[in-house]
Amino acid sequence: MAKKDLSIKYLGVDCLNPFFLSSSPVGGNYDMVAKCYETGWGGCFFKTVGIFVADECSPRFDQTNKEGLPWVGFKNMEQISDKPTEVNFEYIYRLVRDYPEHITVASIMGSSVSEWKQLAKMCDEAGVKLIEGNFSCPQMTSHDMGSDVGTNNELVESYSRAVAETTDIPFIAKMTPNCKNMEEHAMAAIRGGAAAVSAINTIKSITNVDFENLTGMPVVDGKSSISGYSGAAVKPIALRFCTQVNQCEELQKMVKGGKYDFGYGHEMSGIGGIETWRDCAEFLAVGCRNIQVTTAIMQYGYRIVEDMISGMQYFMDERGYNSLDEFIGCALPKLIPAEELNREYKVLPKFDDKKCIGCGRCYVSCYDAAHQAIDWNEKKRRPELNDNCVGCHLCLNVCPVQECITPGEIKWKVRDKDGNAVREAKNPAKIKFKKNAKKDKSLSLKEHYE
Ligand SMILES: Cc1cc2nc3c(=O)[nH]c(=O)nc-3n(C[C@H](O)[C@H](O)[C@H](O)COP(=O)(O)O)c2cc1C
Ligand code: SF4
Ligand code: SF4
Repeated sequence: MAKKDLSIKYLGVDCLNPFFLSSSPVGGNYDMVAKCYETGWGGCFFKTVGIFVADECSPRFDQTNKEGLPWVGFKNMEQISDKPTEVNFEYIYRLVRDYPEHITVASIMGSSVSEWKQLAKMCDEAGVKLIEGNFSCPQMTSHDMGSDVGTNNELVESYSRAVAETTDIPFIAKMTPNCKNMEEHAMAAIRGGAAAVSAINTIKSITNVDFENLTGMPVVDGKSSISGYSGAAVKPIALRFCTQVNQCEELQKMVKGGKYDFGYGHEMSGIGGIETWRDCAEFLAVGCRNIQVTTAIMQYGYRIVEDMISGMQYFMDERGYNSLDEFIGCALPKLIPAEELNREYKVLPKFDDKKCIGCGRCYVSCYDAAHQAIDWNEKKRRPELNDNCVGCHLCLNVCPVQECITPGEIKWKVRDKDGNAVREAKNPAKIKFKKNAKKDKSLSLKEHYE
């Protein structure tokens, strides 16, 4: 297999690949970032630098788990860099100088127009090709910074303008998911002169309650705080925000024909719960041109990028894509409002008695939480479908055996002249199964159909 080229232009900057570290301790000094470049990452959003130097608490991390699986989600109470501003800019300057093919992005956060200008000037002097503005840390000790600023359109606009007036380096505004409507804040940033937005930063959370101290976790001197949640658990929320921002026509219009229109529309950078090549591909499919990762690196180290690179190359080869540009955004037209979904058919589950281990989970879930559509054959210890089935596929989602329950017969609704469903008809010819689709458990249900 000839290796597919993963290089991509992001906001006019040539990148070896779209896989970057997101701003956090995974990219907090020269040696760390140098090592990540040598491992294969295309770039790094350096740990956020401010004029404010953070005074940290200890400990500051916690995690959620389920059924013995650790790191379902991850909580941190960390602020921006705790190193002096000049020390951070010296690292950034040396990284830009020593690794010209890799993209070191400065992440900055000020607390006033003059601080944002001062930081933008320092980015200019360090020679970075891109700047990210952190409008989104949810646990700053000052309310003049972080997600409180990111949900205030006037401040987002004026701080974006402060950077755009100071330097020509494209400015990416990093958005908070702790908001009602991200598109509004994204448009405020673009109005102020930002080139694009990135999302998501962490979600305000309390991960666990400690019953010894009767507070949340982690416990700091007997107390705890609400703070940012990240990792695999937040990926669906991040994908949703990226989709909504990328589908926002008003925002796309603002970018069109402007200084940062490089022919791809709004160039979003996607962040949140990304661990594997498949996660990366999902963010690309909803229109992101750049990918950022932290939590998975905190758990597994920099080498996860090897899977991202080879997995993405294999996927592109298998699907016949020659460049990432052919793939980016391909899912956006088919992510539609709920009222536009086809509601004219249902897909009944098909049970494979040979694969079934007789655990009864499908029966219990359907009986207690769906439509009592499964009868339990005591003698055979096997499920049997009755006429109550609505095709919700809860059973398929709880079955622990791969491909034991698969999508089966399709039934079409037959409507009377008033549009009421009166009975069901079999018409499998209307939907064709993808060849071999059922063999691939990793495909979503939607992907089983053409
Ligand atoms: C320990 C930790 C520190 C972080 N520090 C920063 C930061 O300084 N600046 C920033 O913009 N985001 C920061 N983040 C947020 C991440 O860059 C990222 O947006 C978020 O964690 C979601 O991505 P993930 O699920 O891949 O971690 C931090 C996240 C973690 C876990
Ligand atoms: S598809 Fe839903 S209703 Fe039908 S058997 Fe499965 S869980 Fe029950
Ligand atoms: S959940 Fe799967 S394995 Fe368990 S009884 Fe149902 S079909 Fe069989």
